[in-house]
Amino acid sequence: MDTTTPVSFDVHAMRRARVVEALRELGGGVAVLLTAPTRTRNRDSEYPYRYDSAFWWLTGFGEPESAIVIVVTPDRAYTTLFCQEKDVERELWEGARLGVEAAAATLGVDLALPIDMLDEELPKVLAYAPALFIPFGSESALEAQAQQWIASVRSLHRHATPPAVIRDLSPILDELRLVKDAHELSIMRAAGSISADAHRRAMRATRAGRFEYEIEAELLYEFRRRGAQAPAYTPIVAAGVAACTLHYVANNAVLRDGDLLLVDAGCELDGYASDITRTWPINGRYTAAQRALYELVLAAQTAAIACIAPGRRYDEAHRAAVRTLTQGLLDLGVLKGSLDDLIESKAYGRFYMHGTGHWLGLDVHDVGDYRVPGSGPGRDGERPSRPLVPGMTMTVEPGLYVRAADDVPERFHDIGIRIEDDVVVTATGCELLTRGVPVEPGEIERLVRD
Ligand code: GLY
Ligand code: MN
Ligand code: MN
Repeated sequence: MDTTTPVSFDVHAMRRARVVEALRELGGGVAVLLTAPTRTRNRDSEYPYRYDSAFWWLTGFGEPESAIVIVVTPDRAYTTLFCQEKDVERELWEGARLGVEAAAATLGVDLALPIDMLDEELPKVLAYAPALFIPFGSESALEAQAQQWIASVRSLHRHATPPAVIRDLSPILDELRLVKDAHELSIMRAAGSISADAHRRAMRATRAGRFEYEIEAELLYEFRRRGAQAPAYTPIVAAGVAACTLHYVANNAVLRDGDLLLVDAGCELDGYASDITRTWPINGRYTAAQRALYELVLAAQTAAIACIAPGRRYDEAHRAAVRTLTQGLLDLGVLKGSLDDLIESKAYGRFYMHGTGHWLGLDVHDVGDYRVPGSGPGRDGERPSRPLVPGMTMTVEPGLYVRAADDVPERFHDIGIRIEDDVVVTATGCELLTRGVPVEPGEIERLVRD
């Protein structure tokens, strides 16, 4: 799909209406959101352009040099999109632009203006606004720019009163983005399915003597062949002990007979990330030790997934995974002691040092509070973990990373395993988006040997 063409205008108008409602509840004002800048890679080469996620969520418009301004007064609300003007010469080099004339009707906004007019227009709309909402802490110079707009308000008219406060727009948008609508879920299902097929392809392409980058190439080929615009994050293709390095991305080592291959890779489709990890034997057969650890990680994932349902709290999945992994490590003689003490002291953390998942959406580690927003701290000093509601999407990704050590049975040395799937909370439980690629060890072995 072409990222510069909105899939449907209505979904974006609906989202903007929800932002208007949220701003109105806060007393109204003006919200400003810029899309992402283009970024230089080296000299005059740029990284592939990627719009700002929240801007995309509100507009479906993928061109750089764009901004959206939502004005909410007690009796009305309107949206202005600022974008690049048509320019025959530049478009000859850089590709077609939507242009200001077509933008309002195409994107369903009230008004479209050239991006060069942003600094001129903002003081006018801010003149009697109670508040200015911008995302805080973004890397752009927006906060300084906002101060300039406010300073310019008084020069417009001596009675003009600039907003008394600048407020953070991000928590408002993040909260809305956390629960996905039907349009988003249909894209996320498609992204999950492409990524699952890419993992199947990577399994079939695996054999000793090939290099990690050859497997990475199979993944990227399947992503792009199926219309996904990019990988959602740098793929991890880690053979043998490299799997114990959580963010290994060198992907340049040879695959050795007898080792495992851990692959963490997912595509981005129309802005939405998928995020899958599978770990398979390079020669098509898990050793007994590899299989014992694999089955333990799978049991932890199954236990975690069983905790994902409306009303269950976000952290229940992690607790279930930790309990299963710790009991398993005890049974295998990797840990010694009592289950509750080992959990309490986080002794498992030597072998399992990351969380069991994260929100997933337009960003691979998507926005949204993991705790109840605005609540007071509980007995542990933390705000309570958030109850799940249908439409929340997240990963479930337990793992075990066992490096060589004198106090660990040798057969488990240098094994890293993770199993990661994407799920959406449904009315009754959850739906797995990425099981187009198997997790059962026997099925995986068959695919690798195919
Ligand atoms: N691939 C990034 C993650 O699993 O969180
Ligand atoms: Mn993940
Ligand atoms: Mn991942």
